[in-house]
Amino acid sequence: MSCIRIVGGRKLEGEVMLQGSKNAVLPILAASVLCNGKVVIKRCPNISDVRELLQALDSAGIKSSLRDGELEVDTVNATPIFFGPEYAGKTRGGVLLLGAFLGRFGEAGMAYPGGCVIGARPIDLHCKVFRMMQAKLKESEEGVTVKGKLKGGKIKLPYPSVGATENGILAAVCAEGVSVISGAATEPEVTELCRFLRKAGAKIRGIGTSVLEITGGSRLHGVEYTLTGDRIVAGTYLGATAMTGGEILLRGTEGVCMKGIFDSFSAAGLSVSRNRDCIRLHAPGKILPIKELKTAPYPGFPTDMQSQMTAILSLAEGESKIYETVFESRFGVVPELKKMGADVQNEGRCIRIRGGNRLHGETVYATDLRTGAALVSAALAAEGESIVYGDEYIDRGYEDICKTFRLLGADISETDEK
Ligand code: EPZ
Repeated sequence: MSCIRIVGGRKLEGEVMLQGSKNAVLPILAASVLCNGKVVIKRCPNISDVRELLQALDSAGIKSSLRDGELEVDTVNATPIFFGPEYAGKTRGGVLLLGAFLGRFGEAGMAYPGGCVIGARPIDLHCKVFRMMQAKLKESEEGVTVKGKLKGGKIKLPYPSVGATENGILAAVCAEGVSVISGAATEPEVTELCRFLRKAGAKIRGIGTSVLEITGGSRLHGVEYTLTGDRIVAGTYLGATAMTGGEILLRGTEGVCMKGIFDSFSAAGLSVSRNRDCIRLHAPGKILPIKELKTAPYPGFPTDMQSQMTAILSLAEGESKIYETVFESRFGVVPELKKMGADVQNEGRCIRIRGGNRLHGETVYATDLRTGAALVSAALAAEGESIVYGDEYIDRGYEDICKTFRLLGADISETDEK
């Protein structure tokens, strides 16, 4: 069983290039199904969530090739299929194929994406959006099928679900007439999807706001698009550097959509300086506790940084509290950090951290992507050797995390520990 071996206690120092955004490329890949002509996506991260979504598309006749960060997608022979659990269950991005195939072919079907360790992750809001566009849904044990000629209209989201907003956009682009999606998620990845679609010929107004007006029916053409940097990976690498007392120059991002992360960093005494396309962080003398931090939809502090922030604050003298308001069971990092010597408790939706202990190396188990990244960060700061299992989760969203940290001076390698 593969895992990551780390000997901690070394300062991370140096310069790395940030990968493209995982949560932007997944909806954009789904959107490529709507494009008549070749789609080229530059700065595409080579991560397993992308590889798995490409396999799902391949099963529907959509060919692709990913070489040196450049992804080419050819959807000319796309055919509507029912995506079984071998595809739907693996990556959350797969659920976006419903909106894309429904939009292009008037029909789509998929096994339930299912929950994961961070939460049940239902798709009721996605289904609600399709129904509001007059699609007919059939739900069974196998999964959900959606059919029908989509009609634009007023779509009100009771919660700014990122995925439901993205599925609504994909369907509305192909629907007859004008759709107005209100209560939409405003995450940068949603904005990036809208920018991609507009470049392909879609008519979308209100991009970046919670009210999107989409005029359907335009034929979308092939397009070449360059992804922005992954803001969560950026926050992860900056945070890990601070935990080791080092210094990093992160190239390939201006950090324009990282205010929620930077605000939490400065509350913890971590300051960053930003340039045109890079972010520099010099670790503070000491990390400060944060009395109360809440995860929230954009532009709030992102839930995808919660596990990493828990690890950072485990080094801060004093008590911190983080309230997880987005996913009901995103607390996998707590028991594993405890093994490493952190004084951290999970009380309901709140994580209480009494920081200040030195972390020590341990064998720990990641059960989800961001827990894995947080445990690697903690192991880099800990004294002694750690073995982090669950690197297959980390590979879902981090392009070669070991190589990146080795470039920054870490003693880290993938290994096959029995
Ligand atoms: C996206 O997931 C991201 N994934 C997640 O990133 C991210 O944490 C999340 O948005 C919130 O920002 C991708 O973009 C591939 P939601 P998504 O719909 O779309 C509930 C990572 O680590 N909900 O905004 O699934 C849901 O259960 C991943 O990169 C419903 O109840 O998130 C959750 O509690 C993790 N019914 C909340 O809304 C629905 O139909 C937020 O979910 C849909 C969602």
